[in-house]
Amino acid sequence: MIIAIDGPGASGKSTVARGVARALGFLYVDTGGMYRTLAWHCLQLGVEMGNSKAVAAACRRWKTRLHRLEGDPAEVVLLVEGFYPGDALRTREVAKAASDVAVVASVRLWMKRRQRECAEFGNLVVEGRDIGTNVFPETDWKFWLDADASERNRRRSAQGVEDNLAYRDRQDSQRRATPLMAGLGAVRIDTTAMPAAKVVERIVGSVRVGT
Ligand code: DC
Repeated sequence: MIIAIDGPGASGKSTVARGVARALGFLYVDTGGMYRTLAWHCLQLGVEMGNSKAVAAACRRWKTRLHRLEGDPAEVVLLVEGFYPGDALRTREVAKAASDVAVVASVRLWMKRRQRECAEFGNLVVEGRDIGTNVFPETDWKFWLDADASERNRRRSAQGVEDNLAYRDRQDSQRRATPLMAGLGAVRIDTTAMPAAKVVERIVGSVRVGT
C-alpha cells in the first residue's frame, strides 16, 4: 500500500508523512531527500548545476543503492558509495542544487525507477512533488498539502534553515518534466493554520476508513 503526500517546500509534508508512517507502521520515503543526495554528490564532484548533460552523466555513473535506515519510522534512503550524507543534505546550497538537478528529464526517470523499487521494502508513505502524478499515479491514497507562502517562510526560519523557497517553487512548478502538481483525485489539505498532528489524524483517519 502506498500513501502519496505531495506539496511545495515547508507545506508540512515531512512532519506529516513521518507521523502517518509511524501511526500506520509503514516505511517513510523522502523523495526530496533522494534528489538532495544526488545534488550533494554532484556538488562533491564539482559538477556545474546548469550543465544538464554533466548532471545526467553523474546520475548515470554514481555508485548508489537503496537502504533501509532504522528509526521511528524506518526510512528508505539512497546511499552514495555506502555512505548516507544525513544532515549535510539540509543546507540551502543542497536544497537549491536539488531543485536544479530535478529539472533534468533523465534524472527524473532514474529517480522514478528507484522510488518505485522502494515498494519492495513494504508499505510506504512517500512524500514529494510528483508522487501522485508520476511515481505512483495508480495509488488510491493521494494527499496534497499546501500553506500560505508567508507561513511556509516562517516555518523555515523557525527551523533555523535558510531556504530560497520562492526560487524552488517557481522552478519546481515550471519545469517541463513532471512539475509540482496535485494528483488527480488528491485530497487537498491547507496546513496554514492546522497543527501537524491534526493533519496526521485526518490522513490516518481517512486511510483507515477506506481500507
Ligand atoms: O522536498 P525537498 O525540499 O527535500 O525537495 C528538494 C527538491 O527536490 C525540490 O526543490 C524539488 C525536487 N523534488 C522533485 O523534483 N520531485 C520530488 N518528488 C521531490 C523533490
